[in-house]
Amino acid sequence: MPILSLGYLRLDIADADAWQPFMRDFLGLMEVEGTTPGALSYRIDEYPARFVLSPAEESRLAAVGWEVNDRHEMAEMAAKIEAYGIEVEVGTPEECRLRAVTGFVRFLDPSGNPNELFWGPIYDFAPVQTPTVSKFVTGDQGLGHVIVSVLDSEVAYEFYCGVLGFEERNVLDIPGLDGRYYFLGCNPRQHSLGLAPGAAPGLNHFMVEAATLDDVGLGLDRAYNMGVPMMQTLGRHTNDRMVSFYVYSPEGHHVELGFDGERIETRRPVYGIAEGAFWGHRFTPPPAD
Ligand SMILES: [Fe+2]
Repeated sequence: MPILSLGYLRLDIADADAWQPFMRDFLGLMEVEGTTPGALSYRIDEYPARFVLSPAEESRLAAVGWEVNDRHEMAEMAAKIEAYGIEVEVGTPEECRLRAVTGFVRFLDPSGNPNELFWGPIYDFAPVQTPTVSKFVTGDQGLGHVIVSVLDSEVAYEFYCGVLGFEERNVLDIPGLDGRYYFLGCNPRQHSLGLAPGAAPGLNHFMVEAATLDDVGLGLDRAYNMGVPMMQTLGRHTNDRMVSFYVYSPEGHHVELGFDGERIETRRPVYGIAEGAFWGHRFTPPPAD
């Protein structure tokens, strides 16, 4: 599969004062100077900032960054995307500098979600010192996973699997919902990308995986201590076997802190799930403003 892993997330945010304690103090990411001036930047490993949050008038998903091996694989994939009928734009040297990558292209998925393919991340060898999490699980599994909202999950499925080469891992049908959820992988992480049928495109959810159960338990304590609103209680997922909990981000995204996700080392047949969790993951509605 030509896409290696989820490399980075870039968000435009309206409320930096709320996001900074959320990402740094609650989630435990390492805040760094970064290469995008004025942004909140966070590392979790030797990669350049995995999360870059730029203050803006309006909050929105700015980019989901997918890593590929090299310029040739990026060009091959860009040609496929254009053949499918979606315009691909080459990132300028200045834009590469902001991302600390050697090359990238950008395009919108059929729902309008902004995606990028990049190669040559410029590693940052200053040791990662996460303030409260022992270690994040990345490497060949990338930064974690994202779920994006798509207008038509069948069209999105065809694009991400048929054009970008993601592997379908499992599906989820929720009775009464117009459209199916797809969970897609590109490496041993059970899913790097989820497609959620929705009324408007955008970032629905992201997950980072910590190395130990205590990291998750301590994160849960921090959420309670800091008043971060719970979205789903501690539980274990049926598809990626992640033990995790969810909170609401300052702008309402679902943010998951997990541990013990299963590695999928060989191709397995696609399966369906009707339950998201073996236990736990009880839902709490978002707090009223
Ligand atoms: Fe998740």
